[in-house]
Amino acid sequence: MLAPEQRRHAQPPRVTRRHAASPPPIFRDLPLPAPPLPWSDDLASSVGMSPPVAVSSPANAAVAEFYNWVFSLYPLVDVFCSPGRLQLIGRINQLPAGRLLEIGVGPGRHLRHYERHHITAIDCSARMVSSSRRFSPASDIRQMDGEALGFPDASFDYVALFHVLSTTADPARMLAESRRVLRPGGRLFVLNHETPKNAWRHLDRALMPLARRLHFRSWFRLGEISGIEILHQNQLGPRGGFGLMTAYSLEK
Ligand SMILES: C[S@@+](CC[C@H](N)C(=O)[O-])C[C@H]1O[C@@H](n2cnc3c(N)ncnc32)[C@H](O)[C@@H]1O
Repeated sequence: MLAPEQRRHAQPPRVTRRHAASPPPIFRDLPLPAPPLPWSDDLASSVGMSPPVAVSSPANAAVAEFYNWVFSLYPLVDVFCSPGRLQLIGRINQLPAGRLLEIGVGPGRHLRHYERHHITAIDCSARMVSSSRRFSPASDIRQMDGEALGFPDASFDYVALFHVLSTTADPARMLAESRRVLRPGGRLFVLNHETPKNAWRHLDRALMPLARRLHFRSWFRLGEISGIEILHQNQLGPRGGFGLMTAYSLEK
């Protein structure tokens, strides 16, 4: 046992080379891996690269890739999509303020028409995401797969699916995810073209092979998606988009 005076002058324990804090030279001399560079969609597209995609399946990676590519042509598609969507957003604006999630938001030009809700929007296409961020800087917009949502259960009052169920690889899975993130009593809004029961249905059927190549289901009926019966359907009229679009409000 050392006296206090002796303890003050005691030598610290010798550190041998084996116990030294710094690693042996062979490790010290190796260069450290460079930290990952922040991803820039603009930089990536300027060198012809596709941004990384947060998708749950190769099929949806292909959907994302396709929408990155078709992005510049989207205003042509929007001629058909825009009128019905505006009409439906008008109705959604009449509901009490709440947390709204839009899945497959696209370029996002329409986001400015929401008046009172807190908007979260996702898309699997990086170009659609960066465009939506430009149009609606106040919204929370993320690149995400609508079939594998990174949100907790019951985290939204409203979910909107505008023209996305007919483009995603597995619409039943997207519906199930939409239902999961809705709070009990929450509302799901679906707007999509629907295959009519009249003779035009033959055209939708004939176009199926071409449409599939464009990551799109020309044959589409909401009632035929498995799992839709778990939500109470209410068809909203009138039909927009030259009579080809149908809007539904579904309650959890
Ligand atoms: C036909 S566009 C509709 C865009 C917009 N909702 C509208 O009404 O104009 C379909 C959009 O859904 C996105 N999409 C398709 N499948 C998706 C998925 N599984 N997850 C997230 N976004 C998806 C596409 O990238 C594309 O932007």
